[in-house]
Amino acid sequence: MNSGPALGAGPHLPVMVAEVLTQLVTTPTGLYVDGTLGGGGHASALLSRLTMDGRVLGVDLDPGALDAARRTLAGAGERISLRQGSFTQVPAFLEELGVTTCQGVLLDLGISTLTLESSGRGFSFQREEPLDMRFDPDHGRPLSQVLPRLSQSQLAGIIYRYGEERRSRALARAIHGAAEAGRLVTSGDLAAAVRSVVKGQPVKTLARVFQALRIYINGELDNLQAALESLPQILEAGRRVAVISYHSLEDRLVKHFFIRESKACLCPPQIPSCQCNHQATLKVVSRKPITPSAEEQAFNPRSRSAKLRVAERL
Ligand SMILES: C[S@@+](CC[C@H](N)C(=O)[O-])C[C@H]1O[C@@H](n2cnc3c(N)ncnc32)[C@H](O)[C@@H]1O
Repeated sequence: MNSGPALGAGPHLPVMVAEVLTQLVTTPTGLYVDGTLGGGGHASALLSRLTMDGRVLGVDLDPGALDAARRTLAGAGERISLRQGSFTQVPAFLEELGVTTCQGVLLDLGISTLTLESSGRGFSFQREEPLDMRFDPDHGRPLSQVLPRLSQSQLAGIIYRYGEERRSRALARAIHGAAEAGRLVTSGDLAAAVRSVVKGQPVKTLARVFQALRIYINGELDNLQAALESLPQILEAGRRVAVISYHSLEDRLVKHFFIRESKACLCPPQIPSCQCNHQATLKVVSRKPITPSAEEQAFNPRSRSAKLRVAERL
C-alpha cells in the first residue's frame, strides 16, 4: 500500500463538532459510522460522547488519513474499527462487523487540511507537487495521466460543472494545450496554465479549477449520491445522518436527496393517484442548513463555507 508522506504537518480542526454531536447522537451506545474519518477529529469527539459500549466504524479512502487517525484514536482500542475504502462500501464494512444497520452516520465531505497541505499529491495550487489528486493513490490513474486523454470540451464541461467557473472554455484551452504538449506534470504546471488565462487576481479561479478537477478525478458527487442512496438500508429507524458539505454542488445534492426521501410520493402533481409507490424513508431534521458560529468561523476560516444537514430514518 502506498500511503505517501505521513500526514501530520498542519492541524485539521474538525468542523461544528458540538453541533454534529447534538444532532447525530440519539443514543450513547451502539455503532456510529464516520464515513470520512480524515485525521479522526470527529470520530474522537464521538467516542468521548458515547459510553464504553458505543463504537465507531471509521472509513476513509486515503491511507495517509487512516495513519493519522490511527494515532489520534490510539487509546480507543476495540471501540474503533478502521477500514480503508469508500463510504459507498459502508454496507459491506458493516457486514464484516456482523451487523447490517448502525445508529448514526457522519459524512464530512471534501478534503482535510492534512491532505491539502502534506499528502504530496498536488491538491493545493500553492504547492509544487506531482499532479495526482486521488484520495486513494492505489486505485485509478493520477490526474497528470488522465488530463491528456480528455478533449478540450470535456475539460471545459468539468470546469464549468464542478468548479462553477464561467471562463471554463478559455481555461480548458490553456490546460488542454499544456497537457497535449506534456507540460502538465505538477500542481505548479496546472496553476501556471490557469494563470496564463486570468489577468489580475487568479486565486478564486485557481481554487475553482483545482476543486473541479479533484471532484472529477475522485468521482465525488457520484460517490456521495451512492452513499446517500444506501442510507435507508444501513440506518436503524429513529437514527440520524449528518452531512457537512463545503460547496453548493454537494449541499444541493444532499438537500434534494433528503427532500425526495421525505416524500411519500414522487409522482408529478398532475397525476391523480400515485403510480410510483415511493415510500418516505427519511425525515428532514434541519430544514435550513446549520452553519458554524461566528466564533468558529473566526477561529477556523476553513469552516466558513460549511453547511450541516441532518435527516432521521423513519
Ligand atoms: C473533511 S475531511 C474529514 C475530516 C474529519 N472529519 C476529521 O475530523 O478529521 C474529508 C475526508 O473524506 C475522505 N473522503 C473523500 N471521499 C471519500 C469517500 N468516497 N469515501 C471515504 N472517504 C472519503 C478524504 O480522504 C478526507 O480524509
